[in-house]
Amino acid sequence: MSDLLKIKGGKPLQGQIKAAGAKNAMTKLLVASLLSDKKCTFRNVPNIGDVEITVNLCREIGSEINWDKKNHTLEIVTRELKTSYVPQRYSGSNRIPILMIGALMGRTDEDIIVPTLGGDLLGTRPVDLHINALQKLGAKIEYRDMKKEGAYLAQAHQGLKGAVISLNYPSVGATENTILAAVRAKGTTLIKNAAIEPEIVDLILFLQKLGANIVVDADRTICIQQATRFHDVEHTIMTDRNEVASYAMCALSTKGRIFIEGAEHLHMITFLNKIREIGGGFQVKQNGIEFFYDGELEGGIHIETDVHPGFMTDWQQPFAVLLTQTKGASVIHETVYENRFGYATTLKEMGADMELFTQCLGGKSCRFASSDHHHSLVVKGPATLRGKDITIPDLRAGFAYVMAALLAPDLSTISNVEFLDRGYEDLVSKLCSLGADISRVPQPKKHIDKVKAPLQNLLAIDKTPSTV
Ligand code: EPU
Repeated sequence: MSDLLKIKGGKPLQGQIKAAGAKNAMTKLLVASLLSDKKCTFRNVPNIGDVEITVNLCREIGSEINWDKKNHTLEIVTRELKTSYVPQRYSGSNRIPILMIGALMGRTDEDIIVPTLGGDLLGTRPVDLHINALQKLGAKIEYRDMKKEGAYLAQAHQGLKGAVISLNYPSVGATENTILAAVRAKGTTLIKNAAIEPEIVDLILFLQKLGANIVVDADRTICIQQATRFHDVEHTIMTDRNEVASYAMCALSTKGRIFIEGAEHLHMITFLNKIREIGGGFQVKQNGIEFFYDGELEGGIHIETDVHPGFMTDWQQPFAVLLTQTKGASVIHETVYENRFGYATTLKEMGADMELFTQCLGGKSCRFASSDHHHSLVVKGPATLRGKDITIPDLRAGFAYVMAALLAPDLSTISNVEFLDRGYEDLVSKLCSLGADISRVPQPKKHIDKVKAPLQNLLAIDKTPSTV
């Protein structure tokens, strides 16, 4: 059953919530657990759609999984692989299937087949860097047309061998895939210009417990030595810095005050600097961070999204909504994805004063400088937002719409809520506990958007709990 959100905004959000574990860490750690036949116990596991999809995917491969959603713990053990073919119906599910190549190559010399990827439509999102890196380690990979959809066929019948791999862009996914493959590749692998996001560091911490020797240098070099012995692992998932930033921006834009238990100062440095620049209040406490409205918010700032330690691309959509409540004109220059401002049209219809540009505004030239992609946004504020019927196109834009609806005093109705379920745990109950006027109601059948159907099918694959 598909649902709608109904939101009446205009109220300051006040109170305390607990941040969930990170989607972009947990999903990768499940895949990483496939590298060995050892038992891995995870804590602080977020109860979200992308974890559900990845759990189902691992079960297809042969994992026994016991997920205690109430206590946020999950045990996984993959004693042997049932198959190395990722079913074609996972095509378009999320960004995870391609990482199966890296994880499974060291575990089997059978052919590996993974479908093409899904995830949010933020640009072309190619996987050339993944494929090139795995090929350098000795994998043979080819793209196959499978009736309507494509798949990658990967083989390493002689096993993988360590190599020096220079990524021409520090891609998160390509770095993760290469690390996973390198853990069981012979000898030493060096990844230059690697991504060093905190979620990748969390992956490395997990892999070290599992048996890998990995060194991360400050110059974006990651060195992985072949692991030969594996161990059972207990691992607590890092806090979701996207969720923390999302609620922090709700506190400031609604002129409220929210304490977020579990928010990690270290992961929020760049974000906190921008919050201070616009005059937002925050206090870092022993077990979390409190965000509060501290007088009129000032615009006139420049944000450039970038790889870590830069300003996260996943923060820019709700930040654009926050900027509608600041005084003056600000610029957001998106340098990670070429097409991540699709939400601006809807926000303008809600009353936001925004304009898109194809030029790189305000800072350095980026990879999209000579393209015709609208990858810079100017936001002028303060603006009064109006409620609207909205259809969510992707996860982070979805949260931006929720935030905009929380600012509009009249009713907004939001469909395609499944996108939010992929990444935000208990969104409605968390917002209700903060005083928001929000409810989730079943959506009339005729309004169900076709893009959600594959996601719903995947979530329905296997609901029967199995035990380790
Ligand atoms: N890219 C290539 N070739 C590749 C791989 C990437 O050109 O082989 C390009 C992409 O097209 C994009 C840029 O490199 O322009 C960044 O892509 P990256 O590989 O770093 O991103 P990802 O691994 O696909 C993860 C997160 C995203 C997050 C980005 C950047 C997951 C599942 N997804 O995506 O999260 O925005 O890193 O930090 O970890 C989200 O959570 O909403 C989300 C989209």
